[in-house]
Amino acid sequence: MPIDIATVRREAPATQANAYLNAGTNGPLSRYAAEAIAAANQNQLADGRIGPGIYEKSLAISTELRSAFARLLGADDDEIALTHHTTDGMNIAVWGQKYREMDEIVTTSLEHPGGLVPVLVAAKRFGATVRVVPVEVSDDGPTTAAKVLAAITARTRLVAVSHVSWKSGVVLPLHEIAERVHAVGGLLAVDGAQSAGAIAIDARALDVDYYACPGQKWLCGPDGVGALYVRRERIADTQQTFAGGRALRDGNAWDNSGNYLPGTTAQRFEVATVYKPALAGMLASLRWLERLGYAAIYERIQALTAHCRETLSAIPGVTVYTPAAQAGLTSFNIDGVDPVQASARLGEMGVLIRSVSNPDLLRASTSFYNDESDVEKLRRGIEEVIREW
Ligand SMILES: Cc1ncc(COP(=O)(O)O)c(C=O)c1O
Repeated sequence: MPIDIATVRREAPATQANAYLNAGTNGPLSRYAAEAIAAANQNQLADGRIGPGIYEKSLAISTELRSAFARLLGADDDEIALTHHTTDGMNIAVWGQKYREMDEIVTTSLEHPGGLVPVLVAAKRFGATVRVVPVEVSDDGPTTAAKVLAAITARTRLVAVSHVSWKSGVVLPLHEIAERVHAVGGLLAVDGAQSAGAIAIDARALDVDYYACPGQKWLCGPDGVGALYVRRERIADTQQTFAGGRALRDGNAWDNSGNYLPGTTAQRFEVATVYKPALAGMLASLRWLERLGYAAIYERIQALTAHCRETLSAIPGVTVYTPAAQAGLTSFNIDGVDPVQASARLGEMGVLIRSVSNPDLLRASTSFYNDESDVEKLRRGIEEVIREW
């Protein structure tokens, strides 16, 4: 069923106040998430955080949330760890390898620090070498993949790349990379910050080993909740960097002689107590998206992003970098205009996009709750910026 946009915009009210074109940083919070968080807070206030049935209820929310993320990512429930954000998941994947000196980690020059910095820090500690593949914002997916493939050697232990680049918006063909890195005995860790909720993801079919995603961007959840897919075959041999009771089998498989048994599912990468109202809020948002239907969401994002790209390309003085048919991001520049100042000026006009640096660009996100009127506001805003400049 197509999405009823008027209803959706009432369900995510921040989309009514401005042209909300920045899911890539933070999507609008859904009404359902906000209500679930408020209800959970109220329960904690009124009933306390302990007492008969309270612990069981919160366990049930975590279990349902893992299932909802599993459905989103094409995974099984036992392959999902709840995390705090994408960066958390990338750290778990990157630090989870047994590196030997001379091992290599392959990544690209367009990664977000959330995926890149764990690689740099871990490589420094373990004496591994980082190969940063130079990628241009104008490179399409196959070109980027070819560059990554050329950098994979017999020493590659891990490839850490984004499914959708936060700078160029390009979708990387992951399967080919997975095939090549597996052939040399390495693994593939994917930063899914700009893909989860924007394009269909089937982690199994993509053949990836780790897939990290946030809740607060395209999934319209609260801050502080994300998920990490760990392919079942990798769960046992991925090292636990942080550990606690939650990371153990049955939550208590340890003794004072130094014995312990890690959990058998991806839950072994969860550690201890988290902010439970956020989990309830995240679950409420994912249920909302499921009611709308992921297929309808992705279809709408594709259509609107194509429209945004065409609209921006037609403005004299605007250069669009993102190739056609990608995810929900469109990267562009206005000739001679500083992106930071342009983004700030557009914000004053109620058009919420962002600038990124190195290379310096403007980036618009078009999501399922947007419509042509938002793109039109962006167009008029850009024309105003050009006039004023
Ligand atoms: C590609 C990419 N990776 C990671 C992040 C960081 O996200 P999080 O705060 O969920 O760790 C972002 C956020 O903008 C991103 O675009």
